[in-house]
Amino acid sequence: MKFLFTFFLLAGFATAQKTGHQFYKEPYRPQIHFSPKEKWMNDPNGMVFYKGIYHLFFQYYPDSTVWGPMHWGHATSKDLIHWQQQPIALYPDSLGYIFSGSAVIDKNNTSGFGKNGKTPFIAIFTQHDPKGEKEGRNDYQNQSIAYSLDEGKTWFKYDRNPVLKNPGIKDFRDPKVHWYPEDKKWIMALATLNRITFYSSKDLKTWTKESEFGQQNGAHGGVWECPDIVPLKYNGKTIWVLVVSINPGGPNGGSATQYFTGTFNGKTFTPFDNDTKWIDYGPDDYAGVTWSNTGDRKIFLGWMSNWQYATVVPTKIWRSAMTVPRNLGLEKIKGKYYVTSQPVNELNDLNISNVNLQNLQVNNFDLTSKTGKLSLPVSLKFSSEKIDDFSISLSNADNEKVVIGYDKATNNYYIDRTSSGKTDFKKNFAARVVAPRISNSPNMDMILIIDKSSVEMFADKGLTNMTAIFFPNEPYSRIVFHSEHFKIKDLQYHELKSIWNQK
Ligand code: FRU
Repeated sequence: MKFLFTFFLLAGFATAQKTGHQFYKEPYRPQIHFSPKEKWMNDPNGMVFYKGIYHLFFQYYPDSTVWGPMHWGHATSKDLIHWQQQPIALYPDSLGYIFSGSAVIDKNNTSGFGKNGKTPFIAIFTQHDPKGEKEGRNDYQNQSIAYSLDEGKTWFKYDRNPVLKNPGIKDFRDPKVHWYPEDKKWIMALATLNRITFYSSKDLKTWTKESEFGQQNGAHGGVWECPDIVPLKYNGKTIWVLVVSINPGGPNGGSATQYFTGTFNGKTFTPFDNDTKWIDYGPDDYAGVTWSNTGDRKIFLGWMSNWQYATVVPTKIWRSAMTVPRNLGLEKIKGKYYVTSQPVNELNDLNISNVNLQNLQVNNFDLTSKTGKLSLPVSLKFSSEKIDDFSISLSNADNEKVVIGYDKATNNYYIDRTSSGKTDFKKNFAARVVAPRISNSPNMDMILIIDKSSVEMFADKGLTNMTAIFFPNEPYSRIVFHSEHFKIKDLQYHELKSIWNQK
């Protein structure tokens, strides 16, 4: 085994030497975000934390840079930031491809898969049968389980799969399971075409339908996918947040993730209001869910792309990355709850330079005159005492640019990637995308996490967020602020080191 491993390592090294290819140094390769070394990736799956290790599984097709028969890829991290890609966890079989789903730690061995005191990891996922799909059937998506007794390294599929059979609903997928301690049972949130169906189970093998939610709620411009139901604390009170991805029908076109706040009693989710709210208003944060087994801390991660163009973005060796992990919280504004997302603090460990500025009048202020030439990735944080029109442009010598800003007249934040570089791989990629300002505070603050081909904007302590990807022909080298009246109270700029140890 060891010999084989060394052999493949050397063989891989020899190929890399021959082709001269250096992984994670390619144009557009994210430096602070997880992306697979090679080939196609979409949704994050099976995110679970155990004994100091964050596991990230993901929709993966190891034979191509476009979507195909889905596997679960696997990566692990001790800090949510540095990732090690692991061998593929789940392969397609006679029941079909391995679609999205979740993983739990079965501490009490409710499943009975635990042996010799080993705690089982259980993966719960959709199997998508391409034959059934071709035949035009409507029951080709079913839920299956697999277990691991070596902390996620090797997986065994249950021999009586599927554990939840399709009742005749074409889109019947993406199970997210959590333990509901009050009733000592597991709860599954499942996307069922245009609603979420909740099921419960004592052993993860037999599932009973509890309730449905959402046919009349929220956005319905496309099919519902990848749900999650998360308890968050607000002033000591538990508020339940139901996260639902939808494709298409996002606020800026294509795929996006909405959420509802409400109560959950182990059977039924009841929303507080019927507003449509989005975890991230930008075009490139999809299918996000939270890590399991992290206690009160709830960490969310999404796929940083959009089904409108994910398969044609101009990257060569791999396709797609994840967003940065984000801590979820709650804010109450005019009597309504809103979810906040903020980049995890662990990201600060990547800071390698620090420029701190106070009381800036930012009328055409070239930040790179203080920081030196822009060298992505960077993080930029700033705050102001008042809010007014402003924009921040990242640009290169060819005047390709991405502009991030706020427009007072409409009370919208925006990201404009109309002239960002390569955009013609898909109509409408070149667009100005907008998000409403939710906060009514007179102060504003913003965090921008900018990697080689993405910007993530967190405004007002994570109340309004937008993520957008871009592909300039030359790297952006300047950051310039524009505003007539906007004054920055405090600004912090950090260059970030690559998580692949190569900056
Ligand atoms: C969401 C999704 C899921 C499905 C998976 C297939 O992006 O369509 O609903 O399980 O991707 O790869």
